[in-house]
Amino acid sequence: MPSEAPADTPRLLDGGVALDVSLRGEPRRFHAIWLRDNAQDPATRDPGNGQRLITLLDIPAETRIAEAAWADGQLRVRFDPDGKVVAFDPDWLLARAYDEPPPPAAGWTGAEVTRWDPGLANRAPVEDYELVRTDPAARLRWLQAIRRFGFARLTGATAQSGLPLAAAELFGYVRETNYGRVFDVRAEVNPSNLAYTNLGLQAHTDNPYRDPAPGLQILACLANTVEGGESIVIDGFKVAERLQAERPEGFDLLTRYCARFEYAGAKGVRLRAKRPILELGADGELIAVRFNNRSAAAFSDIPYDRMAGYYAAYRRMAELVEDPALAVRFQLAPGDLFIVDNLRVLHARSAITSAGGRWLQGCYADKDGLLSTLAALEAEG
Ligand code: FE2
Repeated sequence: MPSEAPADTPRLLDGGVALDVSLRGEPRRFHAIWLRDNAQDPATRDPGNGQRLITLLDIPAETRIAEAAWADGQLRVRFDPDGKVVAFDPDWLLARAYDEPPPPAAGWTGAEVTRWDPGLANRAPVEDYELVRTDPAARLRWLQAIRRFGFARLTGATAQSGLPLAAAELFGYVRETNYGRVFDVRAEVNPSNLAYTNLGLQAHTDNPYRDPAPGLQILACLANTVEGGESIVIDGFKVAERLQAERPEGFDLLTRYCARFEYAGAKGVRLRAKRPILELGADGELIAVRFNNRSAAAFSDIPYDRMAGYYAAYRRMAELVEDPALAVRFQLAPGDLFIVDNLRVLHARSAITSAGGRWLQGCYADKDGLLSTLAALEAEG
């Protein structure tokens, strides 16, 4: 390599084990084995479905870069020992570059996630159901809000049984469970039993005793003649952020050790899962919150000398979940619905304060279908 090479000339590193290249002015390093494995030529990737046609074992372990140069705006790489030549689009490479600063400290979330409190969430759009159903642009806005906030509302639907299923079908597929494809949440309150049936429900995520837990929940209002009974949502990622700022060692305990959850409330059903209350990915990304007082089982995976600290952190998290400063409250009218990312956003119901009836209907769905539809809409846009 001549010493007077221009700045954007690719430079081989470690005898061709890797290269250093400037992509749109950004220096990035790539390994030979990574480049060869990610070649986009039709012998490596099916041009129709994009699926890889070779296995890693088809690539020589001793693969090196013999030569790399720009040609017609593409980075042209010749590999040893097989002599294969592959061209890479610089923007494709830049979008997938891994020569980046390490992720921040544990508990981080990606650029597509915004943690919220009421000040932010109350500015989030409430979309019209019919518009979302018929207008791809409105549907895109709705799905983007769900990805960003883990929560979104729709209003103005026809209040009829099956509404949550129809809403799920706007982006994906219903997740059927032992509760059925759809389940009813009815509160029938008359003056004589008001004291017993109007209780609020502590904020929770649904069904942490499943593995995987449902990624999304939709709750639709079909009838509502009571006072009170507001719906409440809390951003579990915001709760985690507060806990981490206040008590980093407590946050660490809730991420490091598994809780247990169980449900055995029906004949033939023994659902159990062992998962952390705050779950991190292998790279420290905060990926899930599970919080459900009613289905928490005996925690038996925390060492004796950590249990007191674990409970202190769990208690502080429960206090934050109850903090009115973090709760978004709204009243559902018949034909309104909301969707939550059930591995992030907790939901609750405030106490019902009058006689009457309230009929909600809900269903679960998985997040992969939603994110797939969203990505497809974005690609079309
Ligand atoms: Fe629930």
